[in-house]
Amino acid sequence: MNNILSCRNLSKSFTQQNAPSLEIFKDINLEIANSETISIVGSSGSGKTSLLQIMAGLDKPTSGRVLINNEDISQLNQTQLCALRNRDLGFIYQFHHLLPEFTALENTMMPSIIAGIAHDKAEHERAKYILTKLGLSKRTHHYPNQLSGGERQRVAIARAVMNSPKLILADEPTGNLDNNTAHQVLEIFLELQTELKTSLVIVTHDYEIAAKMQRQYRLHNGKLEALA
Ligand SMILES: Nc1ncnc2c1ncn2[C@@H]1O[C@H](COP(=O)(O)OP(=O)(O)OP(=O)(O)O)[C@@H](O)[C@H]1O
Ligand SMILES: [Mg+2]
Repeated sequence: MNNILSCRNLSKSFTQQNAPSLEIFKDINLEIANSETISIVGSSGSGKTSLLQIMAGLDKPTSGRVLINNEDISQLNQTQLCALRNRDLGFIYQFHHLLPEFTALENTMMPSIIAGIAHDKAEHERAKYILTKLGLSKRTHHYPNQLSGGERQRVAIARAVMNSPKLILADEPTGNLDNNTAHQVLEIFLELQTELKTSLVIVTHDYEIAAKMQRQYRLHNGKLEALA
């Protein structure tokens, strides 16, 4: 089976002024196969966001390598890395990062806008289909500041699935939602994931959500422990 992403001996520490460097995790190895779903739980500050950002090439490890499609991403220049991210990855931030001057529909279409295919009618239809699935058909022309926190989070999910990426990295995608909505949104998200055969890494504090993924891990004391 092909692996969409491999982590090889990933370590991360932060250097601090007038203090020893802060080691977050050490020698993490993880292989993510195509269309596989994985959850990562761990206490606050255990390094989940740091790990996800390194996997996405948004931050660099202190040592170790990340391979996407068997390609070492540290060998790519910024343009190549951005192109790869826009084509193959969907990232959902712990605190949604929508662009305030764009509507829900435009934010969803951001990968198409970047790829220069936003004028394509099929792209529009697809964005509307995804937003409708996520219960936002009447919010497409709203700007982020006119949306509730949960609605913004759903737009962030829509944007992450828009370009049918090979891998979605989701950092607490339902963290800002009430329990009921969180589970509803997750179900729709998983439906879209199955439809697209996307691999999914989800960081969550919710053990019920974590248990829905095929493989479960806990980040603890700088190590990634397999739970199931
Ligand atoms: N830029 C930075 N400089 C120094 N330390 C940092 C930096 N970014 C993160 N850290 C530290 O790294 C640790 C891991 O942070 P991270 O955000 O990865 O945790 P997390 O597991 O996602 O936590 P949470 O569940 O609260 O979101 C924290 O102790 C944090 O203080
Ligand atoms: Mg975090």
